[in-house]
Amino acid sequence: MKHLAAPSLGMAPARGIHYLRGMRVPVILGIETSCDETAAAIVTGDRTVLAERLLSQLGEHAPYGGVVPEIAARAHLQHLDRLIAETMAAAKLEFRDLTAIAATGGPGLIGGVMVGVMTAKAIAAVHKLPFLAVNHLEGHALSPRLAGDVPFPYLLLLVSGGHCQLLAVEGVGRYVRLGGTVDDAAGEAFDKVAKMLGLGYPGGPAVERAASRGVPGRFRLPRPMKGRAGADFSFAGLKTAVRQAIAALPGGRAAPQDAADLCRDFQDAVADIVGDRVRHALARFRREWPDGRTLVVAGGVAANAALRTVLDGAAREASLAFAAPPLRYCTDNAAMIAWAGIERLALGQRDGLDFAPRPRWPLAEALPGAAA
Ligand code: KG4
Ligand code: ZN
Repeated sequence: MKHLAAPSLGMAPARGIHYLRGMRVPVILGIETSCDETAAAIVTGDRTVLAERLLSQLGEHAPYGGVVPEIAARAHLQHLDRLIAETMAAAKLEFRDLTAIAATGGPGLIGGVMVGVMTAKAIAAVHKLPFLAVNHLEGHALSPRLAGDVPFPYLLLLVSGGHCQLLAVEGVGRYVRLGGTVDDAAGEAFDKVAKMLGLGYPGGPAVERAASRGVPGRFRLPRPMKGRAGADFSFAGLKTAVRQAIAALPGGRAAPQDAADLCRDFQDAVADIVGDRVRHALARFRREWPDGRTLVVAGGVAANAALRTVLDGAAREASLAFAAPPLRYCTDNAAMIAWAGIERLALGQRDGLDFAPRPRWPLAEALPGAAA
């Protein structure tokens, strides 16, 4: 993936239009507004991110310990137009230079999704551009291909605040779910543990920092689902065990070293559970998709170093490569939405301006026995 302030490939670009070896490559504006990040990015078919802007609403939601949908929608509305204008200016492009426009069409907080979709539709209508409503999960699922040349099929672990699932990615729009969480998402568990320990929001990075100062093995925490057939996850019991461990401390409160030790054991438990579930999924993936060469991780929790180490090990054992997008493309961003738009457009797909935003939009039909 290349990051350029201005077009630079092949022939001299006319009015910002991109050429690669003399061929015009698509240039897509992507918009992401499904949660608490307002983001715009312009990406080309040769994996160049021409410009991107991302505004996190962390400060606005932090006092509430989680994302407040109404605050999120208002913030998207307030900032999106300006972010798009800044992104276009940074890429030295005008709307008529674009090949298409893509926006997250769901799943997510509906107020935010509507802001992004309406904005994209308006630009598409005025400038007569194809419009693509991208499934946010598909954005995450294809993000490794923005970062590098990862061939289909691959096994994807998607771990974020709202999602925790294992998918065989056979191609664009072809996803088979091998397992998912039966209760909390992994990131949600990190966030809740952080909240219990008063570490702030978002919890994942705070728990990881605290864990680095922790001594392992002090708290015996459970590993729900470990060893069980299939590739489903469960984190609710682990979260409850952390709550009970805090209650059992003197005064029912965790001193800083207690919190660090607990974070360490919690993180080790998550890594252990995820490692086990991924190994199960890998065994099946290798059987049913023998051409597969890669294990890929995406979603915010992919930032966790302990988790990456475990995944790297599991991939090695299965003789697969391990790929993770750069951190800023693991968490929510607009470049992955633009990229998914590019992949879909290349297959001749586009959506109508009558597309209705979807608060729920599963990426793959669950196989019998796999949790949602
Ligand atoms: O993908 P993402 O930005 O947003 C969605 O949920 O779609 O993921 C955010 C989640 C949060 O739950 C956050 O606590 C978690 O990713 N996270 C981490 C780390 N960094 C972010 N979890 C564990 N360790 C981290 N270093
Ligand atoms: Zn996400």
